[in-house]
Amino acid sequence: MPAPAFLPSRPLPYGRQNITAADVAAVTEALQADMLTQGPTVAAFETAFAGYVGSKYAVAVANGTAALHLCALALNVQPGQRVITSPITFAASANCVRYCGGEVQFADIDPNTGLVDLSLVRRLLEAHPKGYFSGFIPVDFAGLAVDLEAARALADEFGLWIIEDSCHAPGGFFIDSQGQEQRCGNGRFANLAIFSFHPVKHIATGEGGMITTNDEALYRRLLRLRTHGITREAATFAHPNEGGWYMEMQELGYNYRLPDFNCALGLSQLQRAGAGLARRRELAARYDAAFAQMPGLQVLAPGRPGHAYHLYVIQIADRKGLYDFLKNRQIFAQVHYIPVHRMPYYESLGWRVGDFPLAEKYYANCLSIPLFPTLTNEEQDYVVTCVTEFLTSGNAALN
Ligand SMILES: Cc1ncc(COP(=O)(O)O)c(C=O)c1O
Repeated sequence: MPAPAFLPSRPLPYGRQNITAADVAAVTEALQADMLTQGPTVAAFETAFAGYVGSKYAVAVANGTAALHLCALALNVQPGQRVITSPITFAASANCVRYCGGEVQFADIDPNTGLVDLSLVRRLLEAHPKGYFSGFIPVDFAGLAVDLEAARALADEFGLWIIEDSCHAPGGFFIDSQGQEQRCGNGRFANLAIFSFHPVKHIATGEGGMITTNDEALYRRLLRLRTHGITREAATFAHPNEGGWYMEMQELGYNYRLPDFNCALGLSQLQRAGAGLARRRELAARYDAAFAQMPGLQVLAPGRPGHAYHLYVIQIADRKGLYDFLKNRQIFAQVHYIPVHRMPYYESLGWRVGDFPLAEKYYANCLSIPLFPTLTNEEQDYVVTCVTEFLTSGNAALN
């Protein structure tokens, strides 16, 4: 096979941030302002983000993991309580339950989407008395939204709360039973939703995260928990207000605040979120077209409406072969995810290989190839050429 006509001038990771001159100017301005942390930009970012996803409230926090931890605290996860999530996610989706002493129960995935299979969640719930499980943390994996209307119905039937882990899907949506678009994190169906602003995500703040909700009581509690459990709201004081300095620590919280200059970056990035999402979808459609007839390769959930495409996942029999082949050509694909129950920590809690066969089969073949808004068509064509070259050089078909 001849060498490709185009060779990219930079390595191609599976995801990367896009920092513009406008971002740099926004951060510079925040750095020169009076307050380096907890100034006016925090609330401005929260308001703008709530507007973007369509929720009433938003709480900016230090990262997506802190967002999950605060949600578990605000929902009063206690030692011994059981919470259901997907094995195909980043470990943080499950770890937040462990931080509070709760027990994680996994439900297997739908292999066509990579999302937790709601019919298997139902089977799990029906196999136990009501009240056995307290909550459900569905994950909008790769950017594909979970059907939260169906999840809510299930949760109501069995008395569960829902934290939507939407780290992969700002701007994503599912179509509800009325034909309406329901944006990830809009608070219609989940009690709380969380997002991450890690550099590979749609909106980057370095480290950063956001919680969205329509529940005012949860919102007020989250504000307190994010800053040590301290409040300055006089109306809620347990003791008489002793003066302008007075504040109360009313419960045990954390320092999970997001500084002003990170929020300035987030606010600036948010202005381009729609354009970035459109480009992700355009690139995904180009991959879909290139791979539609390719023997030995399957695309995970192609052409789904509302997909936010944090990741573009392909499935191939010789995944390690392709990973190494691409790496030698400066294409840094990644695997999302090693199933959480297979992590030694979760194995130490009793989970075993074979517990979730669909997740394990998915893991054996999955690979996330480059997808980010600044990926050029030429760079993407180079990725397609390399994948094609690998597949036509005598590799086994997907089984
Ligand atoms: C699905 C999911 N949940 C939670 C997190 C945690 O977010 P953070 O890295 O901002 O703590 C991530 C980040 O990778 C994620 O992908």
